Amino acid sequence: MLSPIHDPPTAELRVGHHPAVSGRLLGAGGPRTESGVGYRVAGGYVEGVEGAELLEAIAQAGLRGRGGAAFPTAVKLRAVAERPGPRYLVANAGEGEPASVKDRFLVRHRPHLVIDGLARAARAIGARCAYVYVCDREGAASLRAALLDPVVPPGVLIEVVEGPVGYVAGEETAVVRALDGGPAKPTLKPPRPFEVGVDGRPTAVVNVETLANVPLIATCGADWFREVGTDASPGSFLLTLSGAVREPGLYELPLGTPLADAVELAGGGNGEPTAVLMGGFFGGLLRPEALGLALAHDELRAAGSALGCAAVVVLGENECPVAVATEVMSYLALENAKQCGPCIRGTETLRDLLHSTMIGAATEETLARFERVMPMMTGRGVCATPDAAVALVASLLRNFGALVRRHLGRPCARCAAAEEHLARPARRLTLDPPTEGNSGHARRH
Ligand SMILES: Cc1cc2nc3c(=O)[nH]c(=O)nc-3n(C[C@H](O)[C@H](O)[C@H](O)COP(=O)(O)O)c2cc1C
Ligand code: SF4
Repeated sequence: MLSPIHDPPTAELRVGHHPAVSGRLLGAGGPRTESGVGYRVAGGYVEGVEGAELLEAIAQAGLRGRGGAAFPTAVKLRAVAERPGPRYLVANAGEGEPASVKDRFLVRHRPHLVIDGLARAARAIGARCAYVYVCDREGAASLRAALLDPVVPPGVLIEVVEGPVGYVAGEETAVVRALDGGPAKPTLKPPRPFEVGVDGRPTAVVNVETLANVPLIATCGADWFREVGTDASPGSFLLTLSGAVREPGLYELPLGTPLADAVELAGGGNGEPTAVLMGGFFGGLLRPEALGLALAHDELRAAGSALGCAAVVVLGENECPVAVATEVMSYLALENAKQCGPCIRGTETLRDLLHSTMIGAATEETLARFERVMPMMTGRGVCATPDAAVALVASLLRNFGALVRRHLGRPCARCAAAEEHLARPARRLTLDPPTEGNSGHARRH
């Protein structure tokens, strides 16, 4: 049996796009690294709207952050632009979610699109210095090579900074802390980075996919951007789809595409789906009917879920949602930044409760303990990791309550087969055969 966290596909993932978006973000060349000249010939680095006009175009386009929270990008950029300088802009390619590959794809294969977006947004907010924070060695090398290309216009000083691989390392205050030379661990908010960021200065931390949309908006306009997507979630987005689908991979789709259509694009399902792990861990475990949901922020929120960073794992007939929840919780208990009591103790307790459910040792008292522990964690961390842990368990209990009850005092065969995963360290989905990750503090070059 495969596990979504411990056995991600290691072969090259498929890269494809919905016909309606013709590879806005993925480019036409598939998983080949674009050249500076190629990017320029395709319409990159050309003049577009600048400054306040660009910020207005981003607002009109309705661009929302692709890093997880779907925050309106124009609001974030303006909040920094309105503060006294110096100001900074950071492209966040931390990509801590193990089931996501989109940001790594962009920094490795579309470095010029990323650099163009970063430079345009930096100019628009009056930042002379900008950073790409990246936790992928190959992506960092690709960006550095691209920055040396003479096609890159001068004006904004861009530095590539490598951070450690880890679930919390891409959280925005962890990114700021790492750029300042500290550990990549979150700090208390407020102040938020737009108030006090890198070097204590106003800093916009923006996901790398979000910024990749900026050159498209600057040169093609807000109306063109809105030609795909929904009114409240305009544009296209990158979906990392894995699990029980025939062709796991990275797909560019209009926002609002039903998950079932995305699965079709990925060659169809592999057997009967039993659940969907939605959006990274924040979106929770959903029943298979979730395949009918539109992949758009408001629709998923209304369904009690979230698109998050758009990493979706379809669970197959051999996978039990209880075992998958246990695995994810083991990962969070291991990967949290060990700074906050409720997060450290809470994730460990939820892991133990889930594990006892998985092995058939749980009782009614176990269910009651879930209900007691979760409120003690909600909103109690420096970052949202405890909230992610609670969202996951709450979704399991809400959507698979009868299944969880069937585990009381009774071992489950699918869970027993998954037990072996828990003893092994988690791996991330890879675009290529695994490369050695780095760890520790951020490294500047
Ligand atoms: C635990 C945790 C981990 C996160 N990891 C990432 C990450 O790896 N990459 C990312 O872009 N955002 C991550 N975020 C969200 C960032 O804090 C921030 O909201 C985001 O980079 C802003 O970009 P956006 O507005 O373009 O979405 C994480 C948030 C949390 C709570
Ligand atoms: S809430 Fe958890 S992951 Fe976040 S800073 Fe605290 S200990 Fe670390």
